[in-house]
Amino acid sequence: MSAGALDGRTALVTGGASGIGRAIAQAYVREGARVVIADRDAPRAADAAAGTGAAGHAALDVTDPAAVEAVSAAVAREHGGIDILVNAAGILTEAPLTEMDPRLWSETLAVDLTGVFLCCRYVVPGMAERGWGRVINIASQLGIKGGRSLSHYAAAKAGVIGLTKSLALEVAERGVLVNAIAPGPVDTPMVAGITAEWKAAKQAELPLGRFGRPEEVAPTAVLLASDPGGNLYVGQTLGPNSGDVMP
Ligand code: NAI
Repeated sequence: MSAGALDGRTALVTGGASGIGRAIAQAYVREGARVVIADRDAPRAADAAAGTGAAGHAALDVTDPAAVEAVSAAVAREHGGIDILVNAAGILTEAPLTEMDPRLWSETLAVDLTGVFLCCRYVVPGMAERGWGRVINIASQLGIKGGRSLSHYAAAKAGVIGLTKSLALEVAERGVLVNAIAPGPVDTPMVAGITAEWKAAKQAELPLGRFGRPEEVAPTAVLLASDPGGNLYVGQTLGPNSGDVMP
């Protein structure tokens, strides 16, 4: 068997039950990593673990500090530490800011931004202690360019990019590299609910003329987690985005 780029590594993938997170979990397993899928949707997390060959799965709401602390500690205990953290859990809704229910704003920030903070908060110290780690935060191109009726989501994703740069500055010298991926539109259950008209208009805007597929985003997450491929990326935001934005 040929050597995988992530042989011997343990990865925790939040939101790994579906879409981009699941595709990353699958790619990591193929590259030899032990993967634990953590997701709010416990049955789908179990299905995804079985389908991808992940080593384990956990029910986790990333907005719950005590749960994040407990799950990260349990995974670290069971596997001798967490080497790679992928923050892919996320939600997307649409509402014009001037009509937005403040609860929708808070819920979006809680999952899409605070969830990333909490997972980093409880996983990165162990990485720093062991002198090696990779954190890959899934942001969005909307965090760079903004989007109509998406101020809550775009604000959270811009926050993820700022968090990524700041944490990268804090921990790079201890061997922990923190980076983000800002995908363009990708065909997943998250975008399944949008109208055909919107999708057609969005596709026409894209230089590639089509949405991405989750398995076209996953290789960027493999690169960032790998040695030597990811060794020089610090606080970067990589953009597999069909050309939607060119920062
Ligand atoms: P998805 O809906 O297929 O997967 C998201 C996963 O996150 C689901 O399994 C869901 O159960 C889980 N999740 C939601 N809230 C959670 C919570 N509080 N705790 C734990 N798990 C939770 O969506 P997709 O498209 O795969 O999204 C993955 C990430 O990629 C998200 O952060 C999303 O914002 C981002 N993204 C998606 C794009 C797209 O066009 N699909 C484009 C750019 C970024």
